Amino acid sequence: MTPPSRLALRGDLLDFTATPDWGATASAAVRYRPDHWLLIDAGRIVGAQPGAQAPDASWAQFDHRGQLILPGFIDTHVHSPQLDVIASYGTELLDWLNTYTFPAEQRYADAGEAAAGAARFLDALLAHGTTSAVVFPTVHKVSADALFAAAQARGMRLITGKVLMDRHAPDGLRDDVAQAERDCVDLIQRWHGTDRLAYAVTVRFAPTSTPEQLAMAGGLCQSHPGVYMQTHVAENRDEVRWARELFPEARSYLDVYARAGLLNERSVLAHGIWLDDADRAALRDSGAQIAHSPSSNLFLGSGLFDWRAAEAAGAAVSVATDVGGGTSLCQLKSLADAYKVQAMAGQRLTAWKALHAATRGAAQALHLADEIGSLEPGCMADVCVWDWAAGPVAQRRLAVAHDLHEKVFAWMTLGDERNLAATYVAGRRIQA
Ligand code: GUN
Ligand code: ZN
Repeated sequence: MTPPSRLALRGDLLDFTATPDWGATASAAVRYRPDHWLLIDAGRIVGAQPGAQAPDASWAQFDHRGQLILPGFIDTHVHSPQLDVIASYGTELLDWLNTYTFPAEQRYADAGEAAAGAARFLDALLAHGTTSAVVFPTVHKVSADALFAAAQARGMRLITGKVLMDRHAPDGLRDDVAQAERDCVDLIQRWHGTDRLAYAVTVRFAPTSTPEQLAMAGGLCQSHPGVYMQTHVAENRDEVRWARELFPEARSYLDVYARAGLLNERSVLAHGIWLDDADRAALRDSGAQIAHSPSSNLFLGSGLFDWRAAEAAGAAVSVATDVGGGTSLCQLKSLADAYKVQAMAGQRLTAWKALHAATRGAAQALHLADEIGSLEPGCMADVCVWDWAAGPVAQRRLAVAHDLHEKVFAWMTLGDERNLAATYVAGRRIQA
């Protein structure tokens, strides 16, 4: 069914017009427009007006009065095949990969499995309030193909690429430099810039790529301007030790990527817990972003990310679920966990800073702020409608909240996908 070209959603509009300062609960960066119409034409946001000023009959009207309307969340780091290993007991990163994750990823060699898994994964993302994502599939070319095709069918903004790993991985999960390069080039030609899709050169992490493969990956970034790069860095202490042993010539784990030409303004590096000041300066200078994944960091016992130090250094930080290391696809859960991680370091993460990092901040770091992450006219109408409260505890907490930050912080901390009332992608309502 073709969606109506013009639609108007009525509710409490919340987005950001600038970057909130650290620690500020009152912020001019927040744009809160209670009871407004959000106007959408041909899949794009075209304006907003007060609730009392109803648009004319040429606009299909959706009344979400009393509910919160936000830009759809952006998840900057998540693994599609790992829905099968979410909530796996008892291991830290390297054992977790070998025990649970690699065996699950082997299944994606099969095109049918990959297609079914991609559909399941994207439908789940949308059902958790995430409309855009930067995704790891598996080493298999078919797994990236399937994800691109499934995102295209849903009209979603998606960034992904076949995983590169040519060593220290079991049979069925290793590629080789020459074949991997051919596969990447073919996928870039077919998918990069098609509809709302972009390619990411996807190095799993330094330990599973030979220096030759890293050099090939760096070459792909150079010869295909506009492609992204995604990987993991400095997540777990044993992993850091291993990376340093494998690349003794590098100054640090992050420097392995810098030396291979993999650090640039389109690089998305998950975790970055065990970085030093020189690493943070390198992130700032290159324009690369850290995809902070608090749920995963807590679940795998990886460590506590120093967001404040990254902020002070001028390095970009977005927030990610990192499912299946993370235990929920819902970015509200990530943000609640991010608050707790900062609290462990005596820092306080405001709802503004947190929500910005999962919307406009992530969009800016991806150079996509003209398309996603806010309710600004011209952006695609990727929006989610949320109940302010689900259940009597949250309702009571909301009823006694004094100001906007208190209300939104309670929603962010107590809410999850059960609060999600509707998801629109490019102005099309997704049926749950
Ligand atoms: N490092 C290398 N691969 C992975 C992965 O799949 N998940 C996480 N959390 N870290 C990784
Ligand atoms: Zn990950």
